[in-house]
Amino acid sequence: MADDRSLASRFEQWDVVSSVGLTALVVAAGRAVDTHRADSLINDPYAESFVAAANPPKALPTRPTSPKDDSEDETWQMMSGYMGTRTRFFDEFFAAAGERGIRQVVVLAAGLDTRAQRLDWPEGTVLFEVDQELMIRFKDEVLDAEGATARCDRRTVRVDLRDDWPAALEAAGFDPTAPTAWLTEGLLPYLPPEAQDALMRAIDERSAPGSEWAIEDFTNIGQQLADPAFRRIAANIGVDMTQLIYTDERPDPAAWLRDRGWTTDVSVAIEVAKSYGRELDTLTQRLNGQSFLVVARKP
Ligand SMILES: C[S@@+](CC[C@H](N)C(=O)[O-])C[C@H]1O[C@@H](n2cnc3c(N)ncnc32)[C@H](O)[C@@H]1O
Repeated sequence: MADDRSLASRFEQWDVVSSVGLTALVVAAGRAVDTHRADSLINDPYAESFVAAANPPKALPTRPTSPKDDSEDETWQMMSGYMGTRTRFFDEFFAAAGERGIRQVVVLAAGLDTRAQRLDWPEGTVLFEVDQELMIRFKDEVLDAEGATARCDRRTVRVDLRDDWPAALEAAGFDPTAPTAWLTEGLLPYLPPEAQDALMRAIDERSAPGSEWAIEDFTNIGQQLADPAFRRIAANIGVDMTQLIYTDERPDPAAWLRDRGWTTDVSVAIEVAKSYGRELDTLTQRLNGQSFLVVARKP
């Protein structure tokens, strides 16, 4: 018998102020703060508008705070310092992929990522953003109100990543024979190990030779969750991270890819931050060994 249940009823749905959707808003707040820092690494002119339009139950900062003895301010400073670093790193990944001739881009769990609008894309670039329906709807409403236009052929794919997202991607025009630049940023810890495995297999199978894949590997997020200041912030915002994050053992993504013939460059996030001139003691203390920025290439 045909299954006529809508996707909305098969998987938990969230909007930008609930569940894992709210984490996308927190990341946008981090990008807004970084944009306004004196030593900013990125310029995301829309990040602040998302926070304002979402009107979250608890206010999120969009400007740098001044950490004194307040561990929550310090934690926000650390988070925005990290968001700026990772955003800049993946911006550079896409610029390099474009220079190497890649014209097909897939941003999985795109959230409030505005690279389609912010970055210079080579002529002919098609960029797919995959996320849940309500997330994309909110994002498009804000971007429309801001008069923001994509600087590439942007196509949104409204599907759950636990569902048959490759079919939805292909229905939107994805070409598995063309080299692709993939991004999974702020995603893997929100997937249980078996879902990570399925996602990685699906990407590998659809990656033509010459494809590249940038991964945020935030392996030990469990340590961060144990930090009292981080827990207080999460509780204040209304995100129960312990309910959203899967801390189960899972394969190391870079090793998994090397086993399948990809080459990998693994950067320690705090070293990347330092290379950008960002010298945050808190960033170094809190994130040491917890975050790796991986760029993989399929020969
Ligand atoms: C922390 S946010 C990161 C967003 C974006 N990649 C960034 O770095 O700004 C997590 C995102 O993952 C998306 N996400 C998590 N699980 C998902 C699923 N099963 N299907 C679709 N999207 C999912 C959420 O909707 C949210 O936008």
